[in-house]
Amino acid sequence: MLTSEIRRRWLAFFEQRGHTVVPSASLVSPDPSTLFTIAGMVPFIPYMLGRETPPWPRATSVQKCVRTPDIDEVGKTTRHGTFFQMNGNFSFGDYFKEGAIEYAWELVTGSQDDGCYGFDPDKVWVTVYEEDDEAAALWRKVAGIPEHRIQRRDKKDNYWHTGQPGPAGPCSEIYIDRGAAYGPEGGPIVDEDRFLEIWNLVFMQYAIDDVKAKDQFRITGDLKSKNIDTGMGLERTAYLLQGVDNLYEIDEVFPVIKAAEEISGKRYGADHDDDVRFRVVADHVRSTLMLIGDGITPSNEGRGYVLRRLLRRSVRAMRLLGVDEPSLPHLLPVSRDAMGQSYPELVSGFDRISRAAYAEEEAFRRTLVAGTTILDTAVKAAKKAGDTMLGGEQAFALHDTYGFPIDLTLEMAAEQGLKVDEQGFRDLMREQRERARADAKSKKGGHADLTVFRELREAGATPFTGYTELTTATTVRALLRDGGLIATAAAGETVDVVLELTPFYAESGGQESDSGVITGDGLRLDVLDVQRPVKGLIVHTVRVVEGEVRHGQEVLAQVDPEWRLGARQAHSGTHVVHAALREVLGPNALQSGSYNKPGYLRLDFSWNQALSAAARSEIEDVANRAIREDLGVQWQYMSLPEAKEWGAIALFGETYDEQVRVVEIGGPWSRELCGGTHVDHSSQIGLVTLTGESSVGSGSRRVEALVGLEAFHHLAKERALVATLSDTLKTRPEDLPERVAGLAARLREAEKELAAIRTERLLAGAGALAESAQQVGGVRLVTAAVGDVSSADDLRTLALEVRGRMGESAAVVAAGGVAGGRPVVVVATNAAARDAGLAAGALAKAAAAVLGGGGGGKPDVAQGGGTDASRLPAAMDALRAQVQGT
Ligand code: SER
Repeated sequence: MLTSEIRRRWLAFFEQRGHTVVPSASLVSPDPSTLFTIAGMVPFIPYMLGRETPPWPRATSVQKCVRTPDIDEVGKTTRHGTFFQMNGNFSFGDYFKEGAIEYAWELVTGSQDDGCYGFDPDKVWVTVYEEDDEAAALWRKVAGIPEHRIQRRDKKDNYWHTGQPGPAGPCSEIYIDRGAAYGPEGGPIVDEDRFLEIWNLVFMQYAIDDVKAKDQFRITGDLKSKNIDTGMGLERTAYLLQGVDNLYEIDEVFPVIKAAEEISGKRYGADHDDDVRFRVVADHVRSTLMLIGDGITPSNEGRGYVLRRLLRRSVRAMRLLGVDEPSLPHLLPVSRDAMGQSYPELVSGFDRISRAAYAEEEAFRRTLVAGTTILDTAVKAAKKAGDTMLGGEQAFALHDTYGFPIDLTLEMAAEQGLKVDEQGFRDLMREQRERARADAKSKKGGHADLTVFRELREAGATPFTGYTELTTATTVRALLRDGGLIATAAAGETVDVVLELTPFYAESGGQESDSGVITGDGLRLDVLDVQRPVKGLIVHTVRVVEGEVRHGQEVLAQVDPEWRLGARQAHSGTHVVHAALREVLGPNALQSGSYNKPGYLRLDFSWNQALSAAARSEIEDVANRAIREDLGVQWQYMSLPEAKEWGAIALFGETYDEQVRVVEIGGPWSRELCGGTHVDHSSQIGLVTLTGESSVGSGSRRVEALVGLEAFHHLAKERALVATLSDTLKTRPEDLPERVAGLAARLREAEKELAAIRTERLLAGAGALAESAQQVGGVRLVTAAVGDVSSADDLRTLALEVRGRMGESAAVVAAGGVAGGRPVVVVATNAAARDAGLAAGALAKAAAAVLGGGGGGKPDVAQGGGTDASRLPAAMDALRAQVQGT
């Protein structure tokens, strides 16, 4: 049975039973919290939640869906596809469990001659939610399914929601036994390959929020009515009814594999690795077609990025199959022909779709050629060095210079048996972002003229949505360049944006501004800074990365969730450290300023002496205990007098509104007036470690700390350092301080001894040196080159010693050596030499000039030095020439 026939029968069956046929919604999810439409029920969520009145009590559809969490599994298993179609029937407060089960049973097992699918009733197994006796009883009553083919499973398997706050309910799934060739007996709880799920009936009856996992969420109440949401996998049903093994081999997909066989000259079914590639190509080419068909274009963000990734993976798979020429011009039309029957718009819009796809393939091919050489070189170098991992810098360079997405680097490195230092890569990405932010901030202050901002503010404040959500659908209220309003800004520009609403926290109360993106149709803005130039008005400084932003445009403002989590940890961490300071030092230790950003905090407070090591560690201890106690964090608005009454700490120098926000951690333990974003429980801060304590002016000290993972990384680094030391010194960590102190003392002793020996040895040669004097002009001259000495003092001692042995007649002694890597010459003259006009200072100067330095001193002893020790002999020659010439 052709896929299009299966879908036709579906819609006809339910239409005959009073359901309105609703066309598939776009793959671009109508729900902004998810990128794609992931299930047939998505367009109907408002009806289920009772937010909108359903226009019909029953509906049916075949919905286009994309799910990408398993993108890496595509082709490796037979069940994972990115694009798929979901047949659904829906009841909004009309029939419930019994009706849904009756329809499903009839359509699955009814004869093909009657327009049904004709599966053998004895091969049907079902699962129900473990507590749902009613559904189990209905399967027995309606379908006569024997007890042993009705299996019970827990929330992980038999409860359904979208992963977001919304409707949810227990579900019941229908499976077909494919026979012993596909796996062991025992039903779906034992093997989901042999027992293939084709249809899921969800009994939607609750509203949920706080969704943490499939089986972790909070039921907030009953839905207004009990609803039915069912989803049958069209592709799965097709491969069962077409007698093929998997979804890549059905009529709507296999032609692409055939075409790939032709252009590659390879055969599907001959080699496992190649088969995986063929399937990746078949799945991804189709997804590419469908996504571009629904208006998505390749980009580096959100949906566009998923599309880019799929398209690139298919191009890579073709290259691995040995095809170097562009492959999409061969494959995309084949996919269009296979899908066009069900989606005629793919045929009429193919010109547009193919142009976008082919251009992206061309761009990627250029990237591949440039980047692959670099990657291969890096891989070779890593292997040669015996490394199993490619450095984060290399992954970053590939990304930054050649546009290689990290996934591609990971994949290509893995093909050659190497891992990639992903953490290093992400750190470098973060640093780059921070540089851009710092850059934007340093350019701030350009719009000292606040007139426009004031006017905007008069027209209305910016409501801040970021206490409760990170993503807000909103509109561009104003665009500004250099403090003046503009209508549009193009890629590459840095401009200011005011939104109708924003979840972005503007820098204030010590908390750094949020980081994230603002996206829209083909648009991406990187948020570099967020400020409130006038009270109540939030202004985003953004760089236009893609597209053109327009005044009045609808956009999605998205705070980077990781950044925000870090910001919340750091800000709550600041309150905790403040409370700990006051607990340890007393209430006079009052905060006078603070700054925090993800991972880091600093806090200035009034105190007039340095904190002892013991006080620091006690503060750290109190703070971390507060974290471990998992204190609740609450906030509420109240009047300023009430807040003061309550003991909330206000900062001096701040002016507060009538109504203030009070944040408390652990009840009265920490109460502060604060507008910042905070964690819900102190344990979410993770860890605090103090890294510094210093003075910032009189009567004021500063503590700095790291929080969360940063704190952990810092401690981990220190631990690694201790391990290295303990290894090098062959000492247990706890004995290190004593061992190092012992070593330092011995070293000092040894140095002293060495210095004494050197001096002794030096002086031992004094007699011989005196005898080595040469007659230069009318003077006896000794030049001594003694090599390394402990200090210039040694040379001086030597020069004086030699001079003392040279009697009354005119004598000059010059001792040269190297002290601490620098050349030094000490010159000593006796009285007769000085009478003859030979001053030590002038001679030392002459020598020093050659050494690249200066010198001077008294007429009897002087010293010169320089930088170039290799010129010591030349310096002595210069000195000799000077003596000669005097
Ligand atoms: N929403 C359910 C699913 O996607 C049934 O349609 O499985």
